[in-house]
Amino acid sequence: MAVVCLTSASGSPGVTSTAVGLAFCWPRPVLLVEADPTGGSGILAGFMKGTRPYDAGLVELALSPLSAADALRDVVRPLSPNVSLVAGTRTHAQAAALRDVWEPLGSALRELEASGQDVIVDAGRLGLMGSPQQLLDSADSTLLVTRANLPSISAARSWAETVRQPGTGWRHAGLLLIGEGQPYRYTEVSKVLGMPVVADLPDDPVAAAVYHRGDHPPRHFETGPYVRGLQAAVQSVQAHVARGRFALVEEAPR
Ligand SMILES: Nc1ncnc2c1ncn2[C@@H]1O[C@H](COP(=O)(O)OP(=O)(O)OP(=O)(O)O)[C@@H](O)[C@H]1O
Ligand SMILES: [Mg+2]
Repeated sequence: MAVVCLTSASGSPGVTSTAVGLAFCWPRPVLLVEADPTGGSGILAGFMKGTRPYDAGLVELALSPLSAADALRDVVRPLSPNVSLVAGTRTHAQAAALRDVWEPLGSALRELEASGQDVIVDAGRLGLMGSPQQLLDSADSTLLVTRANLPSISAARSWAETVRQPGTGWRHAGLLLIGEGQPYRYTEVSKVLGMPVVADLPDDPVAAAVYHRGDHPPRHFETGPYVRGLQAAVQSVQAHVARGRFALVEEAPR
């Protein structure tokens, strides 16, 4: 199906938790790529609670003499039967070493589609040194994660103006809104940021903590509003990618 990138403008709105949550609700095999240049592998330390040591990740991929596609196979680690992970850097200082890896990695990730695997990228916060720009630009869908409050929308606004420029920005941009209606509705957020709200998730700190730091799932987690929101978000993201591909076919010269 696709390479989907999640990123934010500021304020830790929930990119990593949402990326992990979407992966665990994804209906097909999916690869999570931790491309946040902040370092420290938030997924191994958070969702996995440090139970899994870091033994390979993006840095080993960057240092490998193999092609990006072959090196990728060596650094993928299973998290569940359906979800695998490429861990990010251990420190922010390593992120600079990844500068030349994003482009070949982007091609290698797109090739995974042939093997029936989709990709969800946690691209961290925009504008950081070592940010995976080429992945953000080349993904089938790049979603700016934002809360529905004024500080979050205000920070997202300046980036939204940049990334929605045709030809210079993301191929297929959209918003993933957390806490819709707190206080702004998705129509208002979409209008201000000039991008469609592709999906929204409830503001549910207890449920989100399961994917953020490996908390024990609360009662009725699997059937509760947060997981139902993730399941609906998966469908919406898939439809958004399909629409983007259809538009590309329509635009192609005949
Ligand atoms: N849908 C949600 N509802 C409520 N709280 C959430 C939600 N998603 C994430 N959170 C909480 O928000 C906090 C930040 O989450 P997370 O680390 O996923 O954000 P982030 O955008 O990846 O941050 P950073 O930019 O620091 O990497 C955590 O406490 C997490 O539990
Ligand atoms: Mg994060």
